[in-house]
Amino acid sequence: MSLILFSLPALEAMAGDIRRGCGATAGEYEMRHFPDGETYVRVLSDVAGAEVAVLWQLHQPDSNVLPLLMLVNTLKDLGAKRVGLVAPYLAYMRQDKRFHAGEGISQRYFARLLSQQVDWLVTVDPHLHRISALSEVYTIPALAMTAVEPMAGWIRTHVTNPVVIGPDGESEQWAASVAKAAGCPCEVLTKERFGDRDVKVSLPHVDNYRGHTPVLVDDIISTGKTMIQAAQHLMDAGLSAPVCIGVHGIFAAGAQQEMAAAGLKVVTCDSIADHTNAIALGPLLARGMKEILQ
Ligand code: R5P
Repeated sequence: MSLILFSLPALEAMAGDIRRGCGATAGEYEMRHFPDGETYVRVLSDVAGAEVAVLWQLHQPDSNVLPLLMLVNTLKDLGAKRVGLVAPYLAYMRQDKRFHAGEGISQRYFARLLSQQVDWLVTVDPHLHRISALSEVYTIPALAMTAVEPMAGWIRTHVTNPVVIGPDGESEQWAASVAKAAGCPCEVLTKERFGDRDVKVSLPHVDNYRGHTPVLVDDIISTGKTMIQAAQHLMDAGLSAPVCIGVHGIFAAGAQQEMAAAGLKVVTCDSIADHTNAIALGPLLARGMKEILQ
């Protein structure tokens, strides 16, 4: 497969893993903002007739997506055969229904937008809750890889006598699989959400897990409230401070400070560049790209 990979500079380490994993070459481009904030793009590599992939971060999508679309459209204009998107974190997956009258279903609109712009998509652990597959909203080939194995590998190497804990019902799909792959027990809590920053988590059956190291596993850490509440219950019940693993560390303003103040050790996969990144997803994404391009 002859493939040119363009990458956001913040994801260069992951891009290197992907290039090695699927034999891609690095695409060269310049991107900056004009003084008025609009995006300037210049592609320096010859992409005419080439299979092209763009590795991009989609957290804070309202500011990150337009530069991506400028790059994708430039690549197409310059004659790329196909342009695929490698988005380790897929944004706008959580507003997947009309919760209140008059609300938009942003998951569908975002999926429609990306489907119109790129030829294929590879991502990791998108928040599939009320839909079970990306194909329900994306009309392009869209492949969801899972970080279960990389997370389980990290737990096996770094945690003594772990018990994996899912902080809410939605996390069960990851927690149970991660625990199985790591060869350790699993507990899933229940969560009630009263507002963006107001959640309440149930008490687990802690007596079974004294002497274990709790490892909270969730797909997304945003405000950090879900992790903090779950951790607090575990610690109040006499368990040690848990390790918190998020596939995607979005970290809304103040989240990391609040989690640090609560005494939590936070580890994330590198889908969003951050100092908490400890679990590399590049090899997984390279496998996904090979699969979608074969
Ligand atoms: C819920 O739908 C997700 O799986 C996460 O539990 C949630 O996004 C975490 O959000 P926060 O960090 O704001 O509690």
